[in-house]
Amino acid sequence: MCSGRVSPHFVLKAFQKGADGVLIAACHLGECHYSKGNFMTAKRVEVLRDMFKFIGINDERLRLEYIATSESDKLYRVFNNFTEHIKSLGPSPLKRKVAASE
Ligand code: FES
Repeated sequence: MCSGRVSPHFVLKAFQKGADGVLIAACHLGECHYSKGNFMTAKRVEVLRDMFKFIGINDERLRLEYIATSESDKLYRVFNNFTEHIKSLGPSPLKRKVAASE
């Protein structure tokens, strides 16, 4: 319902389960229906990116985009652009570490 509901735990779990990238789509700043959810998300994404650097994951694998529900063209472009970018980065190194430990 709100990007503020996307816990860092969800993001880390996605990578742990084999995701090569995570895209969080949020309302534009100042337009969150729950007031400040997207501001919280922006701060969490910064913290997660710092953590990624520490654990050796390219922080470009996590993207936050501000997209209004009326911006379907932008949503389409962002999805395609992110998908292509993640493909160019290749599989997540975390995926290989998890597979090796199983
Ligand atoms: S409703 Fe909170 S970011 Fe969209």
